[in-house]
Amino acid sequence: MSRLRTTLTPLECSQRALLWVHKETLTQEETIALNQEVLSNFRYYVNPGFLSYRKSVTSGGDFGAVEWRASGPNTLVDTQGKEYLDCLGGYGIFNVGHRNSTVLAAVESQLAKQPLHSQELLDPMRAMLAKTLAALTPGSLQYSFFSNSGTEAVEATLKLAKAYQAPRGRFTFIATNGAFHGKSLGALSATAKQAFRQPFMPLLPGFHHVPFGDIEAMKQQVALCEKRGDGIAAIVLEPIQGEGGVIVPPAHYLPAVRALCDEIGALLILDEVQTGMGRTGKVFACEHYGVQSDILCLAKALGAV
Ligand SMILES: Cc1ncc(COP(=O)(O)O)c(C=O)c1O
Repeated sequence: MSRLRTTLTPLECSQRALLWVHKETLTQEETIALNQEVLSNFRYYVNPGFLSYRKSVTSGGDFGAVEWRASGPNTLVDTQGKEYLDCLGGYGIFNVGHRNSTVLAAVESQLAKQPLHSQELLDPMRAMLAKTLAALTPGSLQYSFFSNSGTEAVEATLKLAKAYQAPRGRFTFIATNGAFHGKSLGALSATAKQAFRQPFMPLLPGFHHVPFGDIEAMKQQVALCEKRGDGIAAIVLEPIQGEGGVIVPPAHYLPAVRALCDEIGALLILDEVQTGMGRTGKVFACEHYGVQSDILCLAKALGAV
């Protein structure tokens, strides 16, 4: 697509964005202008494919649904005043709803006090969050490493497992068919969806996928790898597969995978980005199975992003 130069300067773009941030209500003309501009901005500066992909843009000739504000804990209002019940919950991030008053008050206070930490002095919030997670997570998990997304949590996890296992001569990862762990190159190597992986092949070497929920298949793959000298660094699993279709494994599966890891000296990595923070009835899904991982990946509802 040929490049469309905007007629606005960068400063004018920023001023318009600030106007939208500070504006409470819109007139009908403002609504039409804003909707047209949002569509055009997506078409020319984000990704034209996004518009046809997004279902919210398909309703007949009304410029699509452009969100304007969260109207309640579970509802959104678009620029035309239409209210939506938010059943998506940001794919699992809005555990405490939109505009939760306790969260808002805390964020506003901290923003007014110090919006970003200095990167050099010690920030009290990071250390307290780590301590909170140590108290919240099952078993003896203690240290936290913070990143910006579930994908980055998985990416960091793989690096951590590599750093730990490389001196032990273990470089191989086992993941499961149907798994979703994110789309950066490392995380994508553990993800098992063809549409996400194929355009970016070859991915990281040393990843094998086995059927989810099938401990015998897992044991066979582990035995094959170990026989070849491919020591297993880690087994990476969602305790309940999310993107793969909400697949709950048999009750014996997770404990059996834990026992297998202990037997061969592999790390058990549980990806609770989707299932963690109370989304399955316990704080972490692994608690349903009485299993503790060596590394636990959290995101989504933890930070509401
Ligand atoms: C199990 C799991 N891991 C990792 C991710 C990636 O998280 P994010 O979208 O925050 O990068 C997701 C996202 O859906 C997920 O469900």
